[in-house]
Amino acid sequence: MDLFEVVSTRRSVRSYADKPIPEEILLKVLDAARLAPSGSNRQPTRLIVIRDRMRINALVPMCTNQSFIAQAPIVIVGVGKNLPNNRGGYMGHYGVLVDTAIVMDHLTLAARAEGLGTCWIGAFDYEPIKTFLKIPEDWNVVALSPLGYPKVQAFKPTENRIALSEFLIDEQWPE
Ligand SMILES: Cc1cc2nc3c(=O)[nH]c(=O)nc-3n(C[C@H](O)[C@H](O)[C@H](O)COP(=O)(O)O)c2cc1C
Repeated sequence: MDLFEVVSTRRSVRSYADKPIPEEILLKVLDAARLAPSGSNRQPTRLIVIRDRMRINALVPMCTNQSFIAQAPIVIVGVGKNLPNNRGGYMGHYGVLVDTAIVMDHLTLAARAEGLGTCWIGAFDYEPIKTFLKIPEDWNVVALSPLGYPKVQAFKPTENRIALSEFLIDEQWPE
């Protein structure tokens, strides 16, 4: 599938079919996420792949009861390690959020290319998830996503975005 079609039809999927993901497709999508760039190529991100039904169900109340998460056969948790030093600029330790967000974005796009749905889950209870998944102190939960085949046709052209003219700024911030 053409990249621009992937980008323009990826949507947040909040309803999943009861259908397993073939292992080779899953690995292909996860490997695309692995190829994401990171600052200084430090690769401070890991993806926790959760297939255990009980564990997925238990995550729902830690994600503000977003119950559709438990419809998916797999839940991915993107975690990023604290960076020991600032690599310049104002970003500082927030760099780990940037690196992990890029990995998650690669994941969402690769999933779309394979007909799989994702939904970035940013509303979650940080400490309970860390404890539940036994995530070490110096690793941060950045985002979760269900991964599975959409129950209904979900991939539609994205329309609810600001216009390109509003999105782009010419040369410098306007007075
Ligand atoms: C940082 C971030 C956090 C989000 N958190 C949630 C969430 O907790 N639950 C949810 O259903 N969608 C969540 N979303 C999905 C957005 O609502 C969605 O991407 C946005 O409305 C645009 O719709 P689209 O993804 O279908 O294009 C999140 C998206 C981002 C980027």
